[in-house]
Amino acid sequence: MHPKCSACGAPLLRTHRFCPNCGAPVGPPATPGELPVASGGPALQVSPEVGLQEDRRLVSVLFADLSGSTPLGERLDPEDLRRILGAFFAALVRPIHRYEGTVEKYIGDAVMAVFGAPVSHEDDAERAVRAAVDMQSALALLNDWLEREHGRRLALRIGISSGEVVSGLLAGEVQSAYTVVGDTVNTAQRLETIATPGDIVVGSTTFRLAGRAFEFEPLGALMLKGKAQTVEAYRVVRSKDESVALESTPLVGRSAELALLRRALAGAVLGRGRALTIAGEAGVGKSRLIAEFTRGLGAGVERWSARGRSYDRQTSYAVLASLLRSAFGIRQADEEPVARAGIEARVRELGLNIDVATVRLLLDVLGYASADFDPQASRRVLVEVARNLVRRQVALGPLLIVAEDLHWMDSSSQAALQDLIPELASAPCLFVATGRSEWEPPWASQRVELSTLDEAESRQMIGRSLGGDVEPSLLETMLLKSGGNAFFIEQLAHSLQETGAIAQEGGIWVGRRSLALVVPDSVQEVLGARIDSLGTGAARVVRAAAVVGRTFWERVLERIVPSPTLKADLDHLIEQGFLERRGIDPEVTHAFRHALIQEVAYLKQLHSHRRGLHVLVADAIKDLFAERADEYIDIIAYHYARGDDDAKASAALLRAGQRAQRLYAIDEALAYFRDALERSARDQAAIARACEGIGD
Ligand SMILES: Nc1ncnc2c1ncn2[C@@H]1O[C@H](COP(=O)(O)OP(=O)(O)OP(=O)(O)O)[C@@H](O)[C@H]1O
Ligand SMILES: [Mg+2]
Repeated sequence: MHPKCSACGAPLLRTHRFCPNCGAPVGPPATPGELPVASGGPALQVSPEVGLQEDRRLVSVLFADLSGSTPLGERLDPEDLRRILGAFFAALVRPIHRYEGTVEKYIGDAVMAVFGAPVSHEDDAERAVRAAVDMQSALALLNDWLEREHGRRLALRIGISSGEVVSGLLAGEVQSAYTVVGDTVNTAQRLETIATPGDIVVGSTTFRLAGRAFEFEPLGALMLKGKAQTVEAYRVVRSKDESVALESTPLVGRSAELALLRRALAGAVLGRGRALTIAGEAGVGKSRLIAEFTRGLGAGVERWSARGRSYDRQTSYAVLASLLRSAFGIRQADEEPVARAGIEARVRELGLNIDVATVRLLLDVLGYASADFDPQASRRVLVEVARNLVRRQVALGPLLIVAEDLHWMDSSSQAALQDLIPELASAPCLFVATGRSEWEPPWASQRVELSTLDEAESRQMIGRSLGGDVEPSLLETMLLKSGGNAFFIEQLAHSLQETGAIAQEGGIWVGRRSLALVVPDSVQEVLGARIDSLGTGAARVVRAAAVVGRTFWERVLERIVPSPTLKADLDHLIEQGFLERRGIDPEVTHAFRHALIQEVAYLKQLHSHRRGLHVLVADAIKDLFAERADEYIDIIAYHYARGDDDAKASAALLRAGQRAQRLYAIDEALAYFRDALERSARDQAAIARACEGIGD
């Protein structure tokens, strides 16, 4: 039996993505039981293997409000209205799931979704905006049908806000529900209320985080209901495609890699085609290297590009489609007639023979029409088309293909490229792939491992991203935080400038307050996702280690996370690039590779958890190094001071104060005594000792 359209009931083919009758997106039929009309109620579905530990995290919250159902209700039987609204909501929710967001709840005719909880992706803000754009497109299609049938249209307003929330299981009266709590949620809802129907309005953090993927129109600083301060708002205009930010820092280093790429291209031009792989961690500079390389190329080399996307790993032929799009000169935003014309023009130019069915298949892969193709046969045809395109192109002159972010490649594109690439060796073609360190291409290629910037390069880049001289201690802090990662350096520089944490004094950049725990949102997105991708054991270890410090002793960690898998978890974290082994004598010591990883792992924890862990750390150090307790009293006092045990904190702070006094470090001693006094609560003896210290 054929499935039926959930909006108009017309019969559908298995391959239909949109109903040929009413244009409604096709999905599982909305049965009354599924109608998303409940308000409140827990809706967030979480797989059991995802730990639901409460934590703080950066998320993007989306609020979408469907209006116009009241006048529609006046003309329709309630049963029909319910069926239609059910179909509308089903269509609106599909993009949320497509980009791995979670529907948190329905409130009347509005839906709230969260991107980044319970699991973060490194691009949750972009995903939220993509989902919103697709929701508006889905609504437009459904509206055309609704207008034809019932002479009405519904309007959708969407607001998106990104920021920190607390997520976890919230105990309710009937049952617990996983939810997110924070001002970001209210802001998203407020932004939705100011959006014009059909629009998507986002706040400033979403704007910054999704800035490479979309064009925005600034709406200015707006006063939102219930908010004391104005909020910068932006309207989403259209999607764009930039793998590297335009206003980048002047290039630092990478001359050897650029020379290698140029040599490889020169070889390819002479007919010695080959495949290269540029691998490296997120933000190390792969896209920038490619951008610098291609910028310098003359007009004699034809260039095609392709790209993997984190949310397209399960989409068949996504990478191949992006390659074909580039070969045909079609842009993502082009309408179908433009795309069809592009294909036909290119085919003529290259003297290819492509029949009507193949053009339909191509349009289908590019996301336009919906054709009914047998998957096996379509793969053969696509690979054939791609191969013929490449063959004809290289017969005309040299070709450079750059395929970025292939660690996110879908399996059907992988199979297609695996067939295609070996053939290029005898052609004037250079195929350059980029991917994260853990990615291995399934074809033969020369691998270039792109390492983080060395210390001299990092210093240079810090100077260039701030634009001016930098005071040595600020420079050291920034070096330590960023660990030579270009993206971290750049983002850190921007956010320190923006927040006023640093300022120029006499032409030199200086720190104005402590830079500890200052983490740019963009970095938090990337690193939060990496931490969430760890297994439960390693995630627990990384959280505890973050409380101990950037450098930590293994024995201390053993005390606070006693676990038979600790050693294996540490090895895994070293392998994954979170930690590095520092030494084994006299103590086995590890360190976080960048302080930013430690800071994100620390910031992700609830304050209450952190306070508990700090006490455990101080207890462990006191106990393990009892004979050196005086030497370590500063560290012990540091942890107790951040812990939730007042008695232990005041005693340790007093001792630290007395030690500082003995060493004539008067300012430190005073600070310790003051802190001790603050933590002494009603302990008269402790208060007396602290006052005595201050008096001395
Ligand atoms: N050598 C460099 N000199 C100056 N700026 C750089 C350098 N390398 C990278 N950058 C800048 O750092 C940022 C991150 O680099 P890039 O986007 O190339 O990283 P990536 O390795 O492609 O990361 P991802 O794996 O996330 O795609 C960019 O804004 C880029 O312009
Ligand atoms: Mg990149």
